[in-house]
Amino acid sequence: MNVKQFRLAIYVAALSLGISSARANEAAAVPTTNTLVIHADQGSNTISRNIYGQFSEHLGRCVSEGIWVGEDSPIPNTRGIRNDVVAALKKLQVPVLRWPGGCFADQYHWMDGVGPRDQRPKRINTTWGGVVEDNHFGSHEFLDFCDQIGAAPYLSGNVGSGTVEELAEWIEYLTAATNSVMSDMRRKNGRAEPWKIPFVGVGNESWGCGGSMTPEFYADNFRRYNEFVKNYPGNKIYRIASGANSWDTNWTEVLMKKVGDGMNGLSLHYYTVPSGNWSHKGSATQFTEAEWFNTLRGALDMDALIARHTAIMDRYDPKQRVGLMVDEWGVWYDAEPGSNPGFLYQQNTLRDALVAGVTLNILNRHCDRVKMANIAQMINVLQAMILTDKEKMTVTPTYWAFEMFTVHHDATLLPSELQSADYEFNSQKIPDVSASASRDPAGKIHVTLCNLNPNQPAEVACELQGGKAQKLSGRVLTAPAMNAHNTFDQPDAVKPAGFSAFKITGSGFAVTLPAKSVVVLEVE
Ligand code: AHR
Repeated sequence: MNVKQFRLAIYVAALSLGISSARANEAAAVPTTNTLVIHADQGSNTISRNIYGQFSEHLGRCVSEGIWVGEDSPIPNTRGIRNDVVAALKKLQVPVLRWPGGCFADQYHWMDGVGPRDQRPKRINTTWGGVVEDNHFGSHEFLDFCDQIGAAPYLSGNVGSGTVEELAEWIEYLTAATNSVMSDMRRKNGRAEPWKIPFVGVGNESWGCGGSMTPEFYADNFRRYNEFVKNYPGNKIYRIASGANSWDTNWTEVLMKKVGDGMNGLSLHYYTVPSGNWSHKGSATQFTEAEWFNTLRGALDMDALIARHTAIMDRYDPKQRVGLMVDEWGVWYDAEPGSNPGFLYQQNTLRDALVAGVTLNILNRHCDRVKMANIAQMINVLQAMILTDKEKMTVTPTYWAFEMFTVHHDATLLPSELQSADYEFNSQKIPDVSASASRDPAGKIHVTLCNLNPNQPAEVACELQGGKAQKLSGRVLTAPAMNAHNTFDQPDAVKPAGFSAFKITGSGFAVTLPAKSVVVLEVE
């Protein structure tokens, strides 16, 4: 009897006993069989911790409310920045934070956000909801936030509606130590020491909201702006050119050809929209298995997407000097009913933890070329780590996926080959399992695995070539329902638990991943 016949027999037996179809499904949950070969004695590429970066934009309640409540707020804060949010983010060891946008970056004039707060100009955020931006969270506040959570700042410069002079002066204001008009202004505004600004983006989505440019026109602009982004003593800037909209490989081609030698990184933006239709993307919480399947299939496309852009970059930059920076990625659903559609507020379920796990495994595996990635966005917007409602806060399933994957930060990627069974839905197939493995500086091996199948466990026989598994430990993130999520009243509905469904074998170990789960294993 093959697996399908076996499942059918159980199903028929269950029906005859009067068990409901959901229970019958459970009873029929035969694990799929999969193999993973890990080359424990190899590995030459580091998984940059910056792949675990995040993104915060002046959009909806990400910065305002999510991070910034102001010094006079009854919500406990340090210099206006929420303490609960800082404490939660510290546990993720956020390596790098991109700001102030997004589309907002190309309408942002940094001088609006420095000096006494009560004198800062109010502007209309024409990109996001037409709300008034009071500029209370500006450069000083952002850099204070980065210090509080221990993240490196990544500034997105305004190319769309700004000037070369404005961007040049921003960098001088922040990073110059010697006396000059700009650095003296910084001192007058309360900061004596220059900051270190390791990453600067020259524009954002310059093909769209960042100026509707052609790649040729943007390439010339990149050259011009980049020329005046100076490295002041003690600060070296990694320059990131505005990159392609998902599958637009021509953008990458033109940029690499014309200005590849002038940049350190080229960005790439990719969002997963379950329906593929931007007018009706689908609900974050009320979804069918078809939507679960489509969402994960969309997330898996990241692999082919990176491969495609990498192939072009390899032709112009065979030594992989230029990093591919996936500085916006994540799922994009319909805004929560009752919320301002311009604020992009969405709930976050177990499905999103799977999307995060699958995507992070892909990014790890491409770490020879991918040097940074920034999930969109940090708080209250799109695939957020954290949701807030006034004084209340909860972390999301995506937060926990990031927390479980911290073991890969700056570890060495171990080459691996995965043979996965199919998760079949409506005659379409995606792999059941996603995986990546790394060795940390202490010699411990970590393997992160996802079972994309919401109905069946997955058995993975893991061969550890060139190594031996002596001791194993693990954690799992799963829940009874595909749409399980945390709320302000039930903040612990989805969170990691201890995991022991594994055994050591002659060649490595075998593990049984529960249906719809993310698992991290430590192998000693
Ligand atoms: O993350 C939301 C928006 O998506 C960003 O502002 C923009 O860069 C992208 O289109």
